[in-house]
Amino acid sequence: MNATWRTYLLWFAQEHIEFRFAEIQSLLSLFNIDMRYLERPKDEPYWIVQFASEKDVHLLASRSVSLRNCLELWSRAKTVQNLHEKLKNVPPKIMAPYFRPEKSFKIEVETFCRHFTQKEKIDKIETFSYLPLEGPVNLKNPDVTLQYIEYYGTISNNPPELPYEVFFGRWVASGLRQLIKKLSLKTRKFIGNTSMDPQLSLLMANQAKVKEGDIILDPFVGTGSLLVAAAHFGGYVLGTDIDYLMLHARTRPSRINQKRRETDESIKANMKQYNLEHRYLDVLVNDFSVPFWRDDFQFDAIITDPPYGIREATEKIGTAKENCIIKEEHLPTHIPAKIEYGISNIYKDLLAFSAKHLKVGGCVVCWFPVFREDYHESGLPSHPCLKLTANSEQVLSKKTSRRLLTFEKIRPPSQEELDTIHSQITDFREKYYTAREETRQERRMKEARIRKENHLKYKENIKKVE
Ligand SMILES: C[S@@+](CC[C@H](N)C(=O)[O-])C[C@H]1O[C@@H](n2cnc3c(N)ncnc32)[C@H](O)[C@@H]1O
Repeated sequence: MNATWRTYLLWFAQEHIEFRFAEIQSLLSLFNIDMRYLERPKDEPYWIVQFASEKDVHLLASRSVSLRNCLELWSRAKTVQNLHEKLKNVPPKIMAPYFRPEKSFKIEVETFCRHFTQKEKIDKIETFSYLPLEGPVNLKNPDVTLQYIEYYGTISNNPPELPYEVFFGRWVASGLRQLIKKLSLKTRKFIGNTSMDPQLSLLMANQAKVKEGDIILDPFVGTGSLLVAAAHFGGYVLGTDIDYLMLHARTRPSRINQKRRETDESIKANMKQYNLEHRYLDVLVNDFSVPFWRDDFQFDAIITDPPYGIREATEKIGTAKENCIIKEEHLPTHIPAKIEYGISNIYKDLLAFSAKHLKVGGCVVCWFPVFREDYHESGLPSHPCLKLTANSEQVLSKKTSRRLLTFEKIRPPSQEELDTIHSQITDFREKYYTAREETRQERRMKEARIRKENHLKYKENIKKVE
């Protein structure tokens, strides 16, 4: 039997816009959902799409953090009058099941980028009084929620008098926006300076297609924010970090009003806070440049935020001394020296490790810092066994940004491939500091020029007075 494709409106949060496409594509692939785009997604907060089954809409919404709401779209127009005309012509078989006497209902009004009072909203609801709704109104827990949306663009300080577009439909599902608040860093037991915010952590876990029972690794785990997100979606989580103090929550507290760390702060305590303790496998001290995993150990996904060398050092165990031998008696108390790791080596190791230790079809999702003016996709790290499936930018400053990269393992590597260096990446830290130095110098030169001009003006004025 042919599936009946219905039209839906996906309404997104207007945040991290570049990431929503990658998130939705990953979820469609994870759940094997077929979704048709009726128009090319743009920067507007809505997409118009089609699904063959409403179950698919529920599945997608059950995991998406970018999605606010999803409606079965009954009418869409550029003017309010046109919206009503179109709504009156919707075939009865589409709307009638929801208008039956036993179905309680409510109508909601959403306006994007323009505020209306409750009274104005009620007036807007009244304009739909021609709909043959037979059931009772129930504002708290209705069987059917109908939504009317007015879209006034995205510039909130100067909205137009009339909306650009209006939509009417039946609410089907909401995304996971409330989860972002629940996992907020503000209320999390153990956090640090580089803890990843929950929205981005959840997006990463979605792009990694984490599912129930997966084994997930973060090799630069820090305070374990990415583990929280992965565990929330059913992953069993493992982490490693070179920093012993960080892993044991003994670094300086990052909250302004906290002088000392609580004795019970830890990544495990965070898991417990969210009832995810049963998903926590362990975290271990390890320098990623010398991984300790069994050769045949396979992860379902690797999700990580490696150090960029700005807020934390890019270091690995090593020494510049030649033929350095530690005496037997010093070994038990020896603290290894560290040397510069370097961004290009970190990413080369990360991709080689992922090619070796991911299951085929598994994903590695990682942040990659870039210097915006130099960015070109050809400069991204690569590996022949990994296919780049998503690449979204988060702008950090005028000159710098970081890109969230997703690679999928397409085949196992040969030994030769594991050992080959495939990328020549500019060391971001070097470039960042050079750029800051340049900016400082430019500012100093500008200040000197202004001082000189002011001095000349001053001298001219003195002459005039004399
Ligand atoms: C950007 S932070 C990760 C933050 C983490 N996502 C969180 O939410 O807290 C990078 C981490 O990499 C660790 N790191 C730096 N060099 C490392 C190395 N060679 N091996 C393993 N971890 C390393 C740092 O100690 C730091 O905790």
